[in-house]
Amino acid sequence: MSKVVILDHPLIMHKLAILRDVNTNSGLFRQLVKEIGMLMGYEVTRDLPLEEVTIKTPITETKAKMLSGKKLAVVPILRAGLGMVDGILELVPQAKVGHVGLYRDHESKKPVEYFCKMPQDTDQRELILVDPMLATGGSACMAIDMLKRFNPKNIKLVCLVGAPEGVKELQEKHPDVDIYLAALDERLNEDMYIVPGLGDAGDRIFGTK
Ligand code: PRP
Ligand code: URA
Repeated sequence: MSKVVILDHPLIMHKLAILRDVNTNSGLFRQLVKEIGMLMGYEVTRDLPLEEVTIKTPITETKAKMLSGKKLAVVPILRAGLGMVDGILELVPQAKVGHVGLYRDHESKKPVEYFCKMPQDTDQRELILVDPMLATGGSACMAIDMLKRFNPKNIKLVCLVGAPEGVKELQEKHPDVDIYLAALDERLNEDMYIVPGLGDAGDRIFGTK
């Protein structure tokens, strides 16, 4: 069974509260999604392996620890996931970026695939799949199905807000994928939106509503 980690750092909680506010405009919303992406990226990369290297300081030679070259790719689920990418890339600028394009059909609420472009060496990489919202879990499950075709080494799912229904779906369909959330909300409403949630993340990031 995959683990569910709630990253309830005070800075994340504070920024998420502003994000939820209906009066927060698109510019600020976009900035906060990026900042929370960075803070979550910091926690999600906590287990990256290190190796000992020898370096020369201005004073003496010493041993120090550096990332052991483990390869990462950040993969946003389009569109809303794009908002989280830049924050993570500021921490790991050498990471590659894959893209999975899905939209949730307004009637059926089921995800529809429209794009997939991954780095050539995805089978060598650890993947950080990002999307602000984990509602029914349909989009994340389909995205992970698509990623697994590339046989990556390891996949982590990072979302800002999750619903219990989505977490359950993920754990049933992909028990090998750990889930990182800033908040686990109460439930879904009849339109399959997260309650209390923050509304439509893609529309709020891109100002399309
Ligand atoms: C939203 C969100 C997730 C999905 C979550 O995307 O960003 O991808 O819905 O819902 P689910 O867990 O029930 O599948 P949306 O389909 O609105 O597309 P967008 O990012 O282009 O706005
Ligand atoms: N997609 C969103 O953007 N928000 C929700 O609450 C559910 C799905």
